Amino acid sequence: MFLMYVECTACGLQHPWSQLQNLCLSCQKPLLAIVDLVAAGRTLKRDTLATRGKTLWRYREVLPLPGDVEPVSLGEGGTPLLRAEKFGEDIDLWVKDESLNPTQSFKARGMSVAVSMAKHLGAAKLAVPSAGNAGGALAAYAARAGLEAHIFMPRDTPLANIIECRELGAHVTLIDGLITDCGAEIARRKAKEGWFDMSTLKEPYRVEGKKTLGYELAEQFNWELPDSILYPTGGGTGLIGMWKAFEEMQALGWIGTKRPRMFAVQAAGCAPIVRAFAALGRTIGGRDAGSTSGRPGERRR
Ligand SMILES: Cc1ncc(COP(=O)(O)O)c(C=O)c1O
Ligand SMILES: [Zn+2]
Repeated sequence: MFLMYVECTACGLQHPWSQLQNLCLSCQKPLLAIVDLVAAGRTLKRDTLATRGKTLWRYREVLPLPGDVEPVSLGEGGTPLLRAEKFGEDIDLWVKDESLNPTQSFKARGMSVAVSMAKHLGAAKLAVPSAGNAGGALAAYAARAGLEAHIFMPRDTPLANIIECRELGAHVTLIDGLITDCGAEIARRKAKEGWFDMSTLKEPYRVEGKKTLGYELAEQFNWELPDSILYPTGGGTGLIGMWKAFEEMQALGWIGTKRPRMFAVQAAGCAPIVRAFAALGRTIGGRDAGSTSGRPGERRR
């Protein structure tokens, strides 16, 4: 394993990977895993990838988890990239079909890596707020790992997702409120209950699993990244993960400096990232992101 430490995205404080970590111990901002890419690149090469299995664990050198530890895997990753030929004459549009992942969404990528690390570092009870797919994925990977899953869902979550979690053996609690209320309930009870908080961006390794989407895209596009990526965005882990993958692949010498324009596509009724951009006076795709409260000149970090 070439994971060196986990680092705060805001203040840069380094934390040891060998202990369970949630947010930065100093400023409570998210942590990212820092990999020794020089060492990883000695065995992980573009050409050798083709000889490996299709699951995301083929990128083992740039993922956390010591080399002698068996990952908690259900065959995630390695999804097809399909050309949408009939979409339009002058649009070269491709679809990465993430529904072929275990539990039918790309949440499986993040949970495979995060549950593997949580188990390795001694967590026994994993908790997550979810409006659907993250809960299903955690339930499946916790079951695979032999760990408890505690899933908090808004009461109006589609029944199929609730049944999925329960049938996979998770403890499901329905909350009269939004997913943020579910997260707050976990935060309130986790110390007493001994739960490890697996919420989006509150532990460092779901991003690591999701970054494999970026590695796969580069390989499937023959190491030439597309001009734009449209990403159905919830908390943004996939966007951050892909971006991290592009940085890592450039450091590995696999791709150049070109980066796709990243579009965070969110449902109108739940669009915190679009609204945050709008509030900062940014436009998206040449159009106003939908708010008049922007402060021109202010930039995101
Ligand atoms: C199928 C699917 N794709 C993408 C996302 C976005 O997740 P995130 O923005 O946290 O990467 C979600 C959940 O929020 C999802 O269920
Ligand atoms: Zn910090």
